[in-house]
Formats: sequence, structure tokens, C-alpha cells
Amino acid sequence: METVVSGIRSTGNLHLGNYFGAMLNFIRMQNEFNCFFFIADYHSLTTHPKPADLRRNVRQVLAEYLACGLDPAKSTLYVQSDVPEVAELYLLLNMNAYLGELERATTFKEKARKQPDNINAGLLTYPVLMAADILLHKASKVPVGKDQEQHLEMTRQFGNRFNRMYEVNYFPEPVAFNFGGALVKVPGLDGAGKMGKSEGEGNAVFLYDSDDVIRKKVMRAVSDSGPAAPDSPRSEAVENLFALMALVSTDETIRFFDQAYKDCSIRYGDMKKQLAEDMIRFITPIRERIEDNLRDESLLEKAMAIGREKARTSADKTVAEVREIIGMRY
Ligand code: TYM
Repeated sequence: METVVSGIRSTGNLHLGNYFGAMLNFIRMQNEFNCFFFIADYHSLTTHPKPADLRRNVRQVLAEYLACGLDPAKSTLYVQSDVPEVAELYLLLNMNAYLGELERATTFKEKARKQPDNINAGLLTYPVLMAADILLHKASKVPVGKDQEQHLEMTRQFGNRFNRMYEVNYFPEPVAFNFGGALVKVPGLDGAGKMGKSEGEGNAVFLYDSDDVIRKKVMRAVSDSGPAAPDSPRSEAVENLFALMALVSTDETIRFFDQAYKDCSIRYGDMKKQLAEDMIRFITPIRERIEDNLRDESLLEKAMAIGREKARTSADKTVAEVREIIGMRY
């Protein structure tokens, strides 16, 4: 059976981008593949969270994984730092990751621009740790959103380079995967670019947002001054609202606003009101399950323990084999 690995950073609650870009694939894949889904807490340290926040965020994301329908009996759900073998593989892969290629990574350049006072080595080698996460279980498929495509390319690069260097055919070539075919990019509410936790207040709708917060965010979403003439093209901001609608609204609703845009009768206020209610309808049952899970201490602990055990067994084997290949047998 093919092996699947993916993770989500523990920098806060999951938003609709995480859900439709990654989680929806996790939920479907757990029934068909040998899946490892983790909470990337090592990765989240690049932004220096306070210890209490780190703890809270990891538990929150775990409660959200379970609330979305991930089942610890079907897939291996674990916390990245519960499997420290990944840190050793990361160290070993760092030896053949080059400064030039790491500096060229889009995410590094973006982060360096956003946090100029904290351009740490963890940020630079972030793609190496990510490659270690994936290669640790010798995955062939990695369900991720479009923004992670380049990281997957780098993972293949590091794995292939290791194979060549030691003249082995050890690591398989993992590919970024989406059930629907093309990788997904869920837009944010600010009129430009993707939905993301670090894209500014109000850009992302979280699975844990209350109904009122969702209404406020959506009503403030950027639109434009309306179609100038029948059948005029849509601006990016309005295209984004339609893209979000496509995720949570019924076909009938989408058709209605599509037609209204075409014949210039559209009122963005009405469209946003409808979008907010459809998001609330989608999110409410998930949020209720998150709340239940957060109250159930033993559920979270049991899930972490089962995952840790299964992930370490797989990780131990890989790291032992990699040490052997490298020649660490004295
Ligand atoms: P992170 O935590 O930023 O995002 C988690 C997953 O959600 C997807 N995603 C999106 N998809 C579509 N549209 C969006 N607006 C959107 N925002 C986020 C991301 O593509 C991702 O799949 N580096 C990773 C975490 C990670 C990882 C790994 C993933 C660490 N190691 C190994 C896969 C395999 C990250 O920061 O994702």
C-alpha cells in the first residue's frame, strides 16, 4: 500500500485554506492509504511561540484534526516532536542541502521579507525539515495546497541527491497530491492572494471562529465597485468571493450570483451575507466537535500516544537504514 505523509503547522487554528487545501484530502486518503498526518510543532518554532501558546496550539490542532474526521485507528496522527528521529534525518539531509537553493526558495524569501529581524537558520532550512518529515516514512504521496509545491520539488531533490551520493535506490520520489487533480489555492478575504494565518487580521476564516466573527470578516471582505457592463470580467477580489462560494454554497446559490453578476444586478452585500451563512453552516458542526474534543483530555492524550508509537516504529526503521547506508556502523 502506498504511503502518505502530510502535516500542518501548529501556529494557530486551522482555516478554510488548510481545510480545503489539505485536510479534505487527509480525510479521504485515510481510507485508502497508509497515512501519517502530523502536527508540525518543530516548524512552528521559527516564529518563537511562548511555551504556553505552543502547548495550547498543538492541542487545538489535534482537537481540530479529530473534529474534521481523522481517525487515529485508520491513520497515524502524531506530534512531530514526539518523533525526534526526524531531527536526526534533518541533520543528515542538511549535509547535502546547499545554501544557494535554500536561499532561492520562495517561502524563505517571503518570510525573510516579513520578519527581517528574525531570519534564523530554521527558516532557511525549513524545506529540509519538511523533506525529512516526508522521507522519514518513505512517502510517495503528499497531500498539500498549491503553496507547498516548491517544497515538494526540493524534497525530491534532496531524496534523489541522497540516492545518487550513496548509490542506492532508497528514497522514493514523493509527489504533491490532491484528490481532485490540481493542487488547491483557497483565496483570502482581503482581495488578493491566498488565505493564510500570517496574511493579516480578517483575511482567514477559521474552523474555530464564532458565527459573529465569520459574519464580520466576510462582510468586510474586499470587493469592487460592481460590473461596469453586462458580461464584464471579474476583478481578482470578486473572483475570490466566487471561489470561496464554490467551496461552501449550493450550486443554486452560485448560479444565482453568477447570473446576477453577468446582468449587473448583483449586490455584493447580499452575496457576502449569503457566503457568511453558508460558511457558518459548514463550520458550525466542526466547531462543536472541536469544543467537545478540547474538553476531553483523555481523548487527546490517547490519540497522541497511539500516534507516537506507530510513527516512531516507522521512523526508527528508516533512520537505522539511513545510518547503515551512510556507513555509520563502527
Ligand atoms: P501550513 O501549516 O502553512 O498549511 C498546512 C496545509 O494547508 C495548506 N494551505 C492551503 N491550501 C490551499 N489554500 C490555502 N490558502 C492554504 N493555506 C494553507 C498548505 O498547502 C498545507 O498543505 N510546511 C507545511 C507543513 C509541513 C508539511 C510537512 C506538509 C511541515 N512538514 C511535510 C507536508 C509534508 C506548512 O507550513 O503548512
